[in-house]
Parts: sequence; C-alpha cells; structure tokens
Amino acid sequence: MHRSYKIAVIPGDGTGPEVIREGVKVLKAVSDIEGFKVDLIYYDFGAERYLKTGETLPDSALEELRQMDAIYLGAIGHPAVKPGILEKGILLRIRFELDMYINLRPIKLYPGVETPIKGKGPEEIDFVVIRENTEGFYAGAGGILRRGTPDEVAIQESINTRKGVERCLRYAFEFCRRRAKDKKLTLCGKTNVLTYAFDLWERVFKELSGEYPDVKTDYAHVDAICMWMVKNPEWFDVIVTDNMFGDIITDLGAIIQGGMGIAAGANINPEGTSMFEPIGGSAPKYAGKNVINPLAAICACQMMVDHLGEAAAARRVEEAVIRVLEGHLKSLSAGQMGYSTEEVGDMVAEYATKI
Ligand code: IPM
Ligand code: MN
Repeated sequence: MHRSYKIAVIPGDGTGPEVIREGVKVLKAVSDIEGFKVDLIYYDFGAERYLKTGETLPDSALEELRQMDAIYLGAIGHPAVKPGILEKGILLRIRFELDMYINLRPIKLYPGVETPIKGKGPEEIDFVVIRENTEGFYAGAGGILRRGTPDEVAIQESINTRKGVERCLRYAFEFCRRRAKDKKLTLCGKTNVLTYAFDLWERVFKELSGEYPDVKTDYAHVDAICMWMVKNPEWFDVIVTDNMFGDIITDLGAIIQGGMGIAAGANINPEGTSMFEPIGGSAPKYAGKNVINPLAAICACQMMVDHLGEAAAARRVEEAVIRVLEGHLKSLSAGQMGYSTEEVGDMVAEYATKI
C-alpha cells in the first residue's frame, strides 16, 4: 500500500514562508525518491491575517489540525502586532490544544560549522534537550491587580502537575534509552530556590529512574547548566527540564550548534499530532530578501519525516544538509551564506536525491 501523509503547512510571518518553501522542496524531493506521498494543506495564520480580520486561529482550524499526520510551521511574530498576541494565539495555542507536551531540541554541531566555543567540535557538541511544553510559567496562571497604579501587583505562577511532570520525564527516559549514546539523563532545575516545583520534578525523576536502571541520572541547577553547556558541552547526552528553563537553555544550545540558521525543534504529542519548526523566529528585517538560511527549516523537515516513520528519507535530508555545510556555505548567517535562500534549498534537494 502507498504511504501517504497529510501535512498542515503554516508558513507564518517574516521569513517563515521563504524557509518553508525550501523545506517543502526538500520534502517533495525525498518523498518522490522514497516512494511516499505528501498531501500538503496550507494555512495562512499569522500577522497578515490577524491584521486584516482580527483572527489568530479559528476553532475550526484547530479541529482540522488535529486530524493531520504532522504540522510544519515557519515562524510566528511580527513587529506590527503587539508581542504575545500571535505567539499565544497561534503557536502556544496549537502546542496546548493539541497537547504537544514535549519540545524536542537536538543540539548537534555538524562538521564544518563554526561554534563560538573554542576547542570544541562535533565530537563534543551532540546532545538533546527535552523541554516540557504545556505547563510551567507558560500555562498562563496569574494576573494583574490594580493595574497602572502605584499599588500594582503582577503574579505569574508556574504550574507543575504530577501528570505533566511524569509524562515528560518518562518520555525523556525512554528517549535517552532509545538514543543509546551515553545513556545519561540530566535533570535541569533549581531545587535550591524553587523548592516546590522542582521538589516534584526531582521526586518523580528519582522514582522513574528505578524503572530505567540502564539510564544514568544526573542533576544540575539551570544556572550551572548554562555554564557547563559552554565549558563542557560533552558532558551532556539528554537534558530534561521545565518549559521556561527549556526555552532559555535551548537558545544557548542553538548558538553553540552554529546559530539560528541551523536550529530546529519538534513539538511532540506522542499520542497525537506533532508540529515541527525552525526555532529562529520570523527575522522581519530579512523577510522577502531571499537571504535567510533555510537549513533550520530543512532540519525541522528532517525531524518531521523521521517522526512519520520515514527513516530513510530523514537520513537523506540529514546527509544532504551535512554535505552542503561541509563544502559550500561561507557562514550560516542571513546574507552571509554566499548563496541565496533558494540556492541553499536547491542544493539540499539535489544532494538528498543522490545519496
Ligand atoms: C520558542 C519560542 C516561543 C517560546 C515563543 C515564540 C512564544 O521562543 O519556541 O522557543 O517561548 O516557546
Ligand atoms: Mn524560545
């Protein structure tokens, strides 16, 4: 029987449409050669639609997205829209409503890519951050009292449920076991100050570790992790953490793997639909110029086909990216690649079919 996947494509704002176009090019190239079909359904959610209609994400679309095999997202965010509206209304809403409770971010330095860390190379920089993706400070608990007065109070609480923490940690243990690298899982927290939230995380972590005797466990405070990710990135295999800390340390991770031009992430609902995205944002100043690096979006596409079970296609994409990185680009930064967005996409698509 023919393998066929229904994929929602949300190019979004800024440079999103340009990088997604290249990702789709690569997706089509590998699906042709590996013999599976992709049915792409485009959605125009983003700033333009919001400014025209006042709508971020209609409920009916959410129901459609739930029926997809995957979602491929470019970027959300626009200088003409107040920060938070599109991010919360589209990106976070999809993550929450479709219960994508894992945010998976590989931090992998490919050969030929420059890292700002002196003396470290691909051997040392190869780990994965698993970020809880539906709770913590992102849950939106809190409020403002007496707004705009000298007596104003702003409260923003971090929500950590037993169920939410446990499913994230369990995923991390399973992932670490399957990845079979060092089989070492590091919990990143702040048990010395956030003594309620991370008490729960730590207790469940210890409890679950009994079920995974083959996985070594370790703990580090988030501030120390920031230091060690720079000083000794080779110490890490898989890091698991809450939503807010995960957001912060994965930007640090993106920089040590070569920057936003290459960093990709997956929002995973292991029992439902998952969404794949480059993590660099909409980069409005480069929009429409054909200079943005599409490799992060292409790496997100690689994660997507892998997740769909098309491992051979995923390997083709990764190999093609590695080849382009080894011999071609002058830099991963927008406007400094020595090639246009489109040319980089063409090269990856071509290599991917020749492997
Ligand atoms: C990310 C982004 C989002 C987040 C923003 C755009 C809401 O920074 O995916 O890391 O904070 O999760
Ligand atoms: Mn972020």
